Amino acid sequence: MDAITLLVKDHQTVETLFAKFEQTGPRAVKARKTLADRIVHELSVHAVIEEQVLYPAIRESLPEVEDDVLEALEEHHVAKWVLSEIDGMSPDHERFQAKVTVLIENVRHHVEEEEEELFPKVRKALSTEQLEQIGEALAEARKIAPTRPHPKAPDTPPGNIAAGAGAALLDKARDAARGAKKQAQKEAQKKAAKATAKKASGRSRSGR
Ligand SMILES: [Fe+2]
Ligand SMILES: [Fe+2]
Repeated sequence: MDAITLLVKDHQTVETLFAKFEQTGPRAVKARKTLADRIVHELSVHAVIEEQVLYPAIRESLPEVEDDVLEALEEHHVAKWVLSEIDGMSPDHERFQAKVTVLIENVRHHVEEEEEELFPKVRKALSTEQLEQIGEALAEARKIAPTRPHPKAPDTPPGNIAAGAGAALLDKARDAARGAKKQAQKEAQKKAAKATAKKASGRSRSGR
């Protein structure tokens, strides 16, 4: 898949999550948390693969768009700070909704600049083959990208490549721990529901 198609697909995935989040009411705490976790994951990976692969490729072959890339890096930086605060924040927190709203506004602005300004210039300047090669590199980078935001980590090569590998391992461990915790909570809920049902059927059999 060519680089631009792959990244635009990512943008669409994130936009779908944003729209779903906006449709949930303030009482849908669990759904909002699940959506926020997915947004954190998708955006963390997307930002890193652009920083590791696309932006350096653009800076090398299209020096005339250097300022656009530098601005994009700053927008990623701000988004990663907000993401790092949303990550792990309780959806009951009075600032949760405001943080996600600000994140969505910022990311929509960034995506618009990429799709309307930066990507068309890249598509025009690079060959189909080059775009396919960058696309392959993006897909490879995605497999080992950190899944959490690391706003203090380097965001340009070679620092981001080296730091990214270590951060990705740590994130995978954290993701696994989070998954295990959720599974344990589910099991406990199931057990409690079973015990309640058993008690209720016992009562109805004894006629109480
Ligand atoms: Fe970006
Ligand atoms: Fe992007």
